[in-house]
Amino acid sequence: GMEKVAMSRFEAEEYINDRYTAMEQRLAIVRKRLNKPLTLAEKVVYGHLDDPEGQELERGVSYLKLRPDRVAMQDATAQMAMLQFISSGLPKTMVPSTIHCDHLIEGTTSPQPDRDNSFGGEADLSHAKNVNAEVYSFLASAGAKYGVGFWKPGSGIIHQIVLENYAFPGGMMIGTDSHTPNAGGLGMCAVGVGGADAVDVMAGLPWELKAPKVIGVKLTGKMSKWTSPKDVILKVAGILTVKGGTGAIVEYFGEGVDNMSCTGMATICNMGAEIGATTSMFPYNKRMHDYLVATGRGGAAALADAFKENLQADAGAEYDQLIEIDLNSLEPHVNGPFTPDLAHPLSKFADAIRANGWPSELKWLSQFADAIRANGWPSELKAGLIGSCTNSSYEDMQRAASVARQALKAGIKSKVPFTITPGSEQIRATIERDGLMEVFTQVGGTVLANACGPCIGQWKRTDVAKGEANSIISSYNRNFAARNDGNPATHAFVASPEIVTAMVIAGDLTFNPEKDTLVGADGKEISLDSPFGDELPAAGFDPGMDTYQAPPEPASRSRVQVDVAPSSNRLQLLEPFKAWDGADITDAAILIKAKGKCTTDHISMAGPWLKYRGHLDNISNNMLIGAVNAANEKVNAVVNVLTGEEDAVPATARYYKAKGLPWVVVGDENYGEGSSREHAALEPRHLGGAAIIVKSFARIHETNLKKQGMLPLTFADPADYDKIDSTDRLSILGLAGLAPGKQLTIQGKRKDGSTYEFEVNQTFNENQISWFKAGSALNAMAAAFAA
Ligand code: F3S
Repeated sequence: GMEKVAMSRFEAEEYINDRYTAMEQRLAIVRKRLNKPLTLAEKVVYGHLDDPEGQELERGVSYLKLRPDRVAMQDATAQMAMLQFISSGLPKTMVPSTIHCDHLIEGTTSPQPDRDNSFGGEADLSHAKNVNAEVYSFLASAGAKYGVGFWKPGSGIIHQIVLENYAFPGGMMIGTDSHTPNAGGLGMCAVGVGGADAVDVMAGLPWELKAPKVIGVKLTGKMSKWTSPKDVILKVAGILTVKGGTGAIVEYFGEGVDNMSCTGMATICNMGAEIGATTSMFPYNKRMHDYLVATGRGGAAALADAFKENLQADAGAEYDQLIEIDLNSLEPHVNGPFTPDLAHPLSKFADAIRANGWPSELKWLSQFADAIRANGWPSELKAGLIGSCTNSSYEDMQRAASVARQALKAGIKSKVPFTITPGSEQIRATIERDGLMEVFTQVGGTVLANACGPCIGQWKRTDVAKGEANSIISSYNRNFAARNDGNPATHAFVASPEIVTAMVIAGDLTFNPEKDTLVGADGKEISLDSPFGDELPAAGFDPGMDTYQAPPEPASRSRVQVDVAPSSNRLQLLEPFKAWDGADITDAAILIKAKGKCTTDHISMAGPWLKYRGHLDNISNNMLIGAVNAANEKVNAVVNVLTGEEDAVPATARYYKAKGLPWVVVGDENYGEGSSREHAALEPRHLGGAAIIVKSFARIHETNLKKQGMLPLTFADPADYDKIDSTDRLSILGLAGLAPGKQLTIQGKRKDGSTYEFEVNQTFNENQISWFKAGSALNAMAAAFAA
C-alpha cells in the first residue's frame, strides 16, 4: 500500500487513495459491462458512478448519477447556494467544499474621487471589503457553520486557487462557475453547474449529468514563437463554435500534449466553456507531475504516477468527433468581437480590421488588421487586459513580461491603459518577488486585485463614454457585448497575454508582432523577439499572505451564528416556491419573444447586479433586460398585454404576477448560453414565469430551469418560432401526463381569436418531473429529508 495522501493540505481526513480505490472498483464493473476501450473522460466519469452495476451507460442519452469528490463556489453564486443549503436544514456539507471571494471586487484604472483618488489592486480590495462587508460576513459565517473552507477577498480567483490547492488527476469536481473546467489542466473532470446542483452534492445526494459524448482533439507537434496554449483553444473555438461542445467532454491527447505546461493545459480547459463543452480534460503526464510537486503536492504526484493507467485513454478508444491540430503550424489567434468563436489567425486579423472599417492605428497582425478594416471595427486599441482565471500562470506572466522588457529597453511604454490581474495571491506574491510586477508597472500597467474585476463587468471604466465604439483586447475568455465594461459598443477581442502585451505597446490592433516593427524612443525601428517564459518559478512559489479561513472544529460549529437581516438589500432568506397545482397552464402571456443571442448575461446581467446575488427579489429587477424584443427590436421594452402600455420587462412580469397571469418566454437558439448562474432561472420563477419555449437550450441553463420548477421546452419544429406573435396567448397542454421523452402540445390564441397548435419537446427524466411537481428540486429534497 502507498502512503495515505490527503486530497488537500486543508482536508487532512479526505484521502486521494480512497478515491482511487473506489474509482478502480467502479471501473472494473463498468469495463466488464462495456467490454471496449475507454476514453479518459469515460474512465473518470464512470469512475464516479453512484451505481456502476445498475446505471445505464449510453453516451449522449443516459442520465448518470455521480459522486463528485468536491464542490467549489465563487462568492456571487455561493450566496444563493448557501441560502438554499440553509433551507435544506442539514447540519453540515457532506463533501469537501470551498467558497472563493473573487467576483465582487471592482477594478479601477483611474483615480477615484470618492476614494481619495486612489485606484488599482490594493485600493480596490479595501473598497470591496467595505461595500461587501455584509456578504463576506454571511459567507464566512455560513462557511464556518456548515464546514466549508472560506477563501477571503484577495485570495485569488476560484479556478486558480483550485488548480494550486485542490485539483488532482482523476478527481471529479463541480463548481458554481462556468470556468470550473480549468481544473482539467490537472486531469480532473471539473464541471460548471448552477448553485442548485452544488446544493444537491453538498447535501449528499448524487449529482445528475447526461452521459457526455466525447470529442477527441489530437495534438501533434510543438508550438513555437508567438504561439501559446491559448491559441489552441482559440482555434478549437473557431472550429466548433459556441455550441459545438454542447453535451460533450473535450478530451485532448497526442504527443503535442507533452509539449505544453500544466497551466497551459488549464487555459485550454478553462476556455472550453466558450464552446459549451461539459468540460475539457488532459491525460496525466510529467508536466502535471511537475506542477503538483511545485505546488507542494508531491504525494499526489506519486499516487497519480502509480495510477496513471486510469488517467489516460485506452488504445483504440472511440470518440464521437475527432479534431486534429498540428501545433507546428498553429498561428497565434485573436478572436472576436462579441463572440469568442470568431477566430482570426494573427496573419488575417489585420485584414479583418480593415475590411470592417475599424480604426487601425496599430500596425501588426497583418490579416487581422484587414478583418478589422473590412468590418469597420474600431482598430484604435483603447485598452489591454491580461491575467484572469484563464491566463495568469507564472509562465503567462513571464512571457508577457518578456515582451514588456523589450519595449522598456527601446524606451517605449504601453500606449493605452494596460491592466494585469494575478489569478491568486500566490501568483501575485511570486511575480512581485521575481521582479515581473515591476516590469509591468514600468511599462505603464496597473496591477489589479487578485480577482475577476473587468472580466465580469466589474470595471469602473472612465475613458470611454457609454455607446462609444472602441476596441479592447484581453487574455480573458469571454467577450460578449458589454461583458467587460457594460458598454455594448465596446468591441472586445481575446488573445494570449503576450499578444495583448504586444498590442498595447503598439497601441493598434493591426499590429502583427511576427512581422511588423515598432519605433523606439531613439526613432529606430525595432522588431520584437518571440516571448519566453519559465513554466514554473525557479525559486519556488511564494504563498504570499494567508487568505484562508478553515471551518472550526465540529463542536464549535453549532455555536456559529449566520445572520441575514430582514432589512438587508443584499441578502434575503428564501421562501419555497409553490408546488404545481396539477392543472395545465392556460392562456399565458408572452412576456417577451426574444430574438437572437440570449445568454445568461442577457437574462440576468452581471456587472452592477452582482451585488444582489443573495437577494432574489432585488436582483429580479434585471430579468431579461438585455434580451432583444423580436416585436420592436428594442431591449427592455415590451408591451403589457393587459394594459397595452410599453414597459420594462421586469415591471411587466411583476404586473402579470400581481394579476395572477402566468407568462412564458419565447426564444431562439442556444438560449441561456454562458454562465451557470441559477439566478437566470430563479428570477423568472420568482416573477411568475411558467415556461421558456425556445429553439434550443444551453445545458446548464436548461437544468437550472428544471431545478426551479420551470418548464424548459423546445420547438419540435423550429419554424414554429415564426408562428408566434408577442401578443398571442399560449396554453401548455398535457402536463398531467408529463413523462420522459413525451412531447407536450402548445395551443396559441391570436388577438383575433384564431388558434394554432404546435408540439414541443422536453428532456425531463422521472426525478426531474418530481421537481416540477414539488415546485422546485429543493422542495422535493426537503420533502425527502422530512420523510
Ligand atoms: Fe472570474 Fe472571469 Fe474567470 S469572471 S472566474 S476571471 S472568467
